[in-house]
Amino acid sequence: MEIGSRKLAAVMFTDMVGFTASMQGDESRARDRRRRYVDAMHRSHVIHGGTVVQWLGDGALSTFSSAVAAVRTAVDLQREMRRNDPIDVRVGIHIGDVMMEETGLLGDAVNLASRIESFAIPGAVMLSDAIHDQVKNQADLSFVDLGAYRLKNVGRPYRILAVEASGLVVPPSGLLEGKGDRAFLLPVTLPERTGRLFGRHEERKRVGGLLENHRLVTVTGPGGIGKTTLAVAVGRDAVPRFDAVVFLSLAAVDDPKAVLPAIADILEIKESDERQVLEGIVSFLADHRVLLILDNFEQVSDAAPHLGEILSACRRTHLLVTSRGPLHLQREVVVPLAPLPVPVNVDDMSGAAAALLADAARRVKSDFAVTPENRPCGGNHLPCPRWAAACARTCRRSPASARTSSIG
Ligand SMILES: Nc1ncnc2c1ncn2[C@@H]1O[C@H](COP(=O)(O)OP(=O)(O)OP(=O)(O)O)[C@@H](O)[C@H]1O
Ligand SMILES: [Mg+2]
Repeated sequence: MEIGSRKLAAVMFTDMVGFTASMQGDESRARDRRRRYVDAMHRSHVIHGGTVVQWLGDGALSTFSSAVAAVRTAVDLQREMRRNDPIDVRVGIHIGDVMMEETGLLGDAVNLASRIESFAIPGAVMLSDAIHDQVKNQADLSFVDLGAYRLKNVGRPYRILAVEASGLVVPPSGLLEGKGDRAFLLPVTLPERTGRLFGRHEERKRVGGLLENHRLVTVTGPGGIGKTTLAVAVGRDAVPRFDAVVFLSLAAVDDPKAVLPAIADILEIKESDERQVLEGIVSFLADHRVLLILDNFEQVSDAAPHLGEILSACRRTHLLVTSRGPLHLQREVVVPLAPLPVPVNVDDMSGAAAALLADAARRVKSDFAVTPENRPCGGNHLPCPRWAAACARTCRRSPASARTSSIG
C-alpha cells in the first residue's frame, strides 16, 4: 500500500503468548518456537493471499483483501500451532478501513482487530461481528457467539465470535467476562405506544419508585383497565436506570411451560433443554441490571415459581409483571390498578377518563368533539351518570370496543 492511501481490508492481529518470558528461560528453544510461528505465518499467508504488514515484537499485523481468506489463514495457522509441542498464539480479526502512513498501518480497523485479539485465548480464532457477517455463509466454517462486549475507546459494542473447527480452541463465554464489559445487544423490546397516555401520573411514579427497591412488582386489575399501557410507560421511564429494559408479551402464550423459552427467545438465548434454558437465562441476567416486563402473566400463572428462581439467582434483575391477579410469590409487591377516576360533572373534560373517552371516540369518528348537544345529559351541570358510565366503560375495556356511538 502507498503512503497516504486508504482501503477496506480484513485486518488480523496475531500474538505469540509468553515469548518474552520464554526467552528468559531456554533461549534457543524460544527462538526455535518463534521460527516455527513465523514460518507458519508466512506459509498460511502465501496460501490464502495475505500480507504481513508489520511484525510487532511477539506479534504481527496482517491485511487481506478477502474476509474469508483472513479467517482461513488464521484457522490454518492455529491448527499448525496446536500440533505437537503447541505454541500459544492469540488471533483477532476485524474488517474495516485502514490507512497507510509513514509510521505504519493506521485506522479504526487496526485498533479494533487489536482489541479483539486481546480478548482471544491461545489456540482460538476470534472475530468481530463485522467480519463474521462476511464469512458466516461459508458452509464449512462454523462459529460460536461469545456475547457482546464494550471495547475500550470503541463507540458501539461488538459481538465477539470464535471459529469452531477441529484443532481449534473455543473459549467458554464466561472466560471473556474479566477481559471487558459485557454489553447488551438486545432488540428494541418496548412496544411503540400507539396513543397518548392519559392520567396515571401517580401510578407511573409509584410503580417506577417501587421498582427501585423491589425486584418483583405486579400490576393487577381486570382486563382493559390499563395495566399494559402503564407498564410500557414505566418501562420507558426506567430505560436510563437499567442496562436493558425488555418487554415480553405473553398474550399469545397459554402454556406455562412455554414461558422460559419465550424469555430465552427475547433475550436471544439459544438453549433447547428446559433446565438449560433456565440456566442460560440466569447466566445471561446474572450480572446485569435488567428490567424484564412480563405482560399478561395471568395466562401462564403456573410458571410463577420460575420467576422466583430467576429472582433468587439474578440479584440485579427486576421484574414488572402485569396480571389479572397476584402471583403469590415471596417479595412480590402488588399494585392493584383502579379505573381512571370518572368525572361527576358533565363539563369536566379535564379528567383523564374523559380525555381517553374523547380520544377513543375520535378513533371511530375523527371529527368528534364534545359539544353541549352531544353531552349525554344535555349540558346541565348536575352529576351525569351516563357520561360517567361511558367513561368508566371505556376505562374498563378497550376503546376499540367501547360504544362511543352512545355519546356522539
Ligand atoms: N391511561 C391510558 N391512557 C391511554 N390509553 C389507555 C389508558 N389506559 C388504557 N388505555 C387504552 O385502553 C386499552 C386497554 O388498555 P391496556 O391494554 O393497557 O389494558 P390491560 O389492563 O393491559 O388489559 P388486559 O388485561 O386485557 O391485557 C388500550 O387500547 C390502551 O391503549
Ligand atoms: Mg394487557
